[in-house]
Amino acid sequence: MPPVSASPPRALLFGGTGPIGRRVLARLQARGWQVVALSRGEAPPLPAVEWRQGALPGSAGPGDGFDAILSCGPLDLFAQWYAATPTGPTPVVAFGSTSVHVKDRSPDPAERALAARLREAEERVAATAAGRDAAVTLLRPTLVYGGGGDRNLSRIAALARRHGLFVLPHDARGRRQPVHVDDLADAALAALDGPGRGLRAFDLPGGETLAYRDMVARVLASLQPPRRLWLLPGPLFSLAAWTARALGVHDAGPAVLQRMREDLVFDAGPARRELGYAPRGFAPEAWMFEGGSI
Ligand SMILES: NC(=O)c1ccc[n+]([C@@H]2O[C@H](COP(=O)([O-])OP(=O)(O)OC[C@H]3O[C@@H](n4cnc5c(N)ncnc54)[C@H](OP(=O)(O)O)[C@@H]3O)[C@@H](O)[C@H]2O)c1
Repeated sequence: MPPVSASPPRALLFGGTGPIGRRVLARLQARGWQVVALSRGEAPPLPAVEWRQGALPGSAGPGDGFDAILSCGPLDLFAQWYAATPTGPTPVVAFGSTSVHVKDRSPDPAERALAARLREAEERVAATAAGRDAAVTLLRPTLVYGGGGDRNLSRIAALARRHGLFVLPHDARGRRQPVHVDDLADAALAALDGPGRGLRAFDLPGGETLAYRDMVARVLASLQPPRRLWLLPGPLFSLAAWTARALGVHDAGPAVLQRMREDLVFDAGPARRELGYAPRGFAPEAWMFEGGSI
């Protein structure tokens, strides 16, 4: 996307301290952008980055005078801020989640509420952008890894490190497409070069589709030392999972456990064509799962 003036282009970034946002921030710096980045806390000084302390949606500050606005944090909070804050026709790139397609049919009311929040946030961002004649690109990652400390694979790695093994039901064969944070950040930067107006939305799966149990086995094999995967028959697993939850070993509810058997597969084709998206295969290494809390 061309800058509005000859001086360095300016980006307003939300979520720049998160796993995806840190990668987006580094790419903006490398491309010569001046970045104003919001954080609720104290953030470390970085070249070409002005940290703004505040919180979405109410105290995030003004939104005018930028060449691009990027949201790498909670989409619902960003949508509220965006609707309430003048930005003119500045283009927007915002991360949502493929959960918007998946969790609306979950048996868990909290998951259905999350899907509804994401759907409403997408619609709100799109409607606000349309009213301002601004281009908006919505990016929906699948299961994200590679930034450490995530709530998915890093948490599984942390549990396996603590207990020496990880347990799954034998039929945990639902297909997954784990996506690396660097591929997502590349997609966000590619989206900045998009058309000057209109709405685009892309699902962003990883570059390899594999069964849930194979994905977890690969994570466990990458740890130092490698941890073992135990596959249990369904009823025995249910009993073990229920007992472990009662003992506080994990907090995965029935909806999470059932989803291990379901395919969560998305089409990267549109993103490949329009963003040059080329996600890598799943080749995890132990350091990618540091910082996972249990
Ligand atoms: N990680 C995944 O598995 C995954 C999967 C699919 C989609 N996504 C989506 O991708 C996006 C980025 O995910 P992520 O895992 O990198 O980050 P995240 O954990 O969703 O968000 C963390 C970032 O959001 C900021 N943030 C949180 N609440 C805030 C508030 N009230 N006001 C201002 N900033 C706030 C944090 O900033 P400070 O703490 O510095 O204030 C931090 O930079 C999100 O939209 C997420 O839903 C993530």
